Amino acid sequence: MIGIFDSGLGGLTVLRALVTRFPQSEFVYLGDHANVPYGNRPSDEVVELTRRAAEALFKRGAKLDLLGCNTATAVAARRLQQTWLPYAGWAGHNVLGIVAPTVEAATQTPWAVTTPQYPQKYITDILAVFGTTRTVTSGVYPEEIRKRCPRMRVYQQVAANLAGAIEDEASEEELDALVKDAVAGLRIQTHGQEPHRVILGCTHFPLVEHLFQKHLAPSVRILSQPDVVADSLEHYLERHPHFGDCEVAGRLRLLTTGDADEISKRARVFWPDVPGFEPTET
Ligand code: DGL
Repeated sequence: MIGIFDSGLGGLTVLRALVTRFPQSEFVYLGDHANVPYGNRPSDEVVELTRRAAEALFKRGAKLDLLGCNTATAVAARRLQQTWLPYAGWAGHNVLGIVAPTVEAATQTPWAVTTPQYPQKYITDILAVFGTTRTVTSGVYPEEIRKRCPRMRVYQQVAANLAGAIEDEASEEELDALVKDAVAGLRIQTHGQEPHRVILGCTHFPLVEHLFQKHLAPSVRILSQPDVVADSLEHYLERHPHFGDCEVAGRLRLLTTGDADEISKRARVFWPDVPGFEPTET
């Protein structure tokens, strides 16, 4: 069984891609709606909330936890892998993040390769990363991309209130204004130059991808993080097939630390046949 975690609903954009790609696999999803959004919280708090969620998924039978959240990945993944997992009594379990596959796709370079290679080292694209405050201040995207593609110009833009607004079912006008502001902020940084490619570096943002498309030039290509994560998990499971073991093939359980009925209703707005959420604690 594979566990997917996000602060709220955003990780469902990843989960939906995974369920489509692996219809016979078994997934358990946890949305920490009692604490969403994470993006403006201090790093130590994000680490602790992520650790609790990762453990909650293990306790419910997941052997592999995928952090379907850029904020949790940027701030907590490495710390949990290095300083918690080896000492917490969860031998045979693992935690994976979603930044590595996204960097691999953006740079066309495997994560294990940390120096510029031919021909990627000649890529001079302008790449924009939209993310939460915590993801952007972590600097993980520009740092990891520049190691592999030093000539790529990487700009980061915070959209601090967008994930929270999506969770709160803000109106289309409000969401449109937040995306418009974020794109305007990016253009100030680039002095009006349009990026060639964009990473929506928050799993909530694909839910308003149409608004990013509206405010960016039609030529801009938006990288699909959910698809990239599905590709990456497929390769990971080829190498570690036991993490794909299931009790009930095709079973999908959704858990939330928030109001299960309310969260189910919100999820169905963009994923009409998603199963209902069950309440849980971490
Ligand atoms: N969906 C999350 C991300 O990818 C978190 C957003 C938030 O809780 O602020 O960053």
